[in-house]
Amino acid sequence: MLKRVLAAAALLFAGAAHAGPGQHAVASAHPDATAAGIEILQAGGNAFDAAVAVSAALAVAEPSGSGMGGGGFWLLHMAETGKQIMVDGRETAPAAATADMYRNDAGEVVASLSRNGPLAAGIPGQAAALAHLAENYGRLPLAKSLAPAIALAREGVPVDAPMLARLAWRFEVMERSPATAAVFHPDGSLPEPGQRLPQPDLADTLQRLGEHGAKGFYEGATAELLVEGVRKAGGIWTLQDLREYAVVERSVITQRFGDWTLTLPPPPSSGGVVITQVFKVLERLGYDGLNAVDRKHAVVEALRTAYRDRAAWLGDPDHVEMPLERLMDGDYAKQTAARIDLKRARSSADLASPVAVYEGGTDTTHFSVIDADGNRVSATLSVNLPFGSGFMPPGTGVLLNDEMDDFSAKPGVPNAYGLVGTAANAVGPKRRPLSSMTPSFVESENTIAVLGTPGGSRIITMVLLGMLELMDGGDAAAIVGKPRYHHQYLPDEIYFEPKALTADEQATLKSRGFALRESGRDYGNMHAVVWDKAAGELNAASDPRGIGAAHVADAPGN
Ligand code: GLY
Repeated sequence: MLKRVLAAAALLFAGAAHAGPGQHAVASAHPDATAAGIEILQAGGNAFDAAVAVSAALAVAEPSGSGMGGGGFWLLHMAETGKQIMVDGRETAPAAATADMYRNDAGEVVASLSRNGPLAAGIPGQAAALAHLAENYGRLPLAKSLAPAIALAREGVPVDAPMLARLAWRFEVMERSPATAAVFHPDGSLPEPGQRLPQPDLADTLQRLGEHGAKGFYEGATAELLVEGVRKAGGIWTLQDLREYAVVERSVITQRFGDWTLTLPPPPSSGGVVITQVFKVLERLGYDGLNAVDRKHAVVEALRTAYRDRAAWLGDPDHVEMPLERLMDGDYAKQTAARIDLKRARSSADLASPVAVYEGGTDTTHFSVIDADGNRVSATLSVNLPFGSGFMPPGTGVLLNDEMDDFSAKPGVPNAYGLVGTAANAVGPKRRPLSSMTPSFVESENTIAVLGTPGGSRIITMVLLGMLELMDGGDAAAIVGKPRYHHQYLPDEIYFEPKALTADEQATLKSRGFALRESGRDYGNMHAVVWDKAAGELNAASDPRGIGAAHVADAPGN
């Protein structure tokens, strides 16, 4: 994990002409989104312009995962200054939101209210984030970077197999919203594979955003259509909620482990805190010197504690006090490591905690970009469940998220993925729900990687496993293809893809007291770009589990 990779080779390239790689690379969940990013880079845009283009194109081409009605985290690195920042475009609860808004008169949680329809939707952050990126970090006008997505929306993107499966899953919910059904249920039923689904209202909404910046979405015609549609269908948004939405630039979490530096998202993402805790515990358990099965045992036990702490403590940093320093300090990791016995499993029931967590999911999306100058973006975006709330305010083309379900509707009551939380993640006006999205950078003297994935609370473990693979010398394809296993405190079991544990490893872990549960299918959809500075080249890969595309292109003039 912590060994130096290719140190000697670096010397050969110490005098390379480019401060950056001299090439561009984009890896995303949809070929049309990757193509949009490359198009903007070839037109003179930088990684931040490309991030705008890819985000908007994913909203059109992969609307099950993210969209203009959702939000996300954009982790940025500026090559010239070394500045790193996270643009937090997470949704906020409307001002009229209350802690008990998803409970009936008897105080019971009515789950459908936070998952389906307009009451489930937080105020979207993606439009504000894209305008922020273009205005503060890009080289091109926002309208130019949105142009590929607008063209895709007008033309329609052919329906692919994953999209069809998710449309079938959410059919009934989407059917309830006439504007949604008009786009996604042509002729009143599921579309045919390969059928193009034009989204003219979304194209117009993107056009207004391009022409007027954030005001073109949060004020004026789009805002009025959004609020009118939401309120007529029983939602609680106001024009003021939209007008007051603001992205937040947050300081990233930076941690050094051996020769590697990790750049991680801070709360309201839980990923940075959990990954920091896990690495610190692994260091103290002497991970590098362990055999394969003991490494997995160590990772699982470190995850068990970190996910317990996630559920107990984390929430919106602007509204709750969190013991972040304590959770991420070395002394706490030392205590945690001292309680781990690599001969036997612990029981989650023995770890004091009031909460349980379980979160899976096929929602959300991720993309990674490095430009020729070395600017980078790692972005994970979401509408929560596939196609979010399923609700589209008429005339907007904007499918609204159901990110309100990432809050804890009531202590002890699970959300869509079985996630339970505490008051730290309660619903409240203008709060951001706790997220697992973990866009990340990992670098050593000779290697820089940009990575992330969708997949609910398993996101954090998947990113962790991707990082460990990189540290073991893996390239982008190895990182995204790595078989996955996962533990998140509760349910108290190791969940694993068929290839992640050998038969011997399964037998050993069972004999140590672990419960194992094999996943019925592969999960996750990771996209990574790796700049191998020693070799002087970029390599990029999209997860073989999905239909995404990775592309490396020479920059104009190179
Ligand atoms: N909605 C998934 C997440 O933010 O973790």
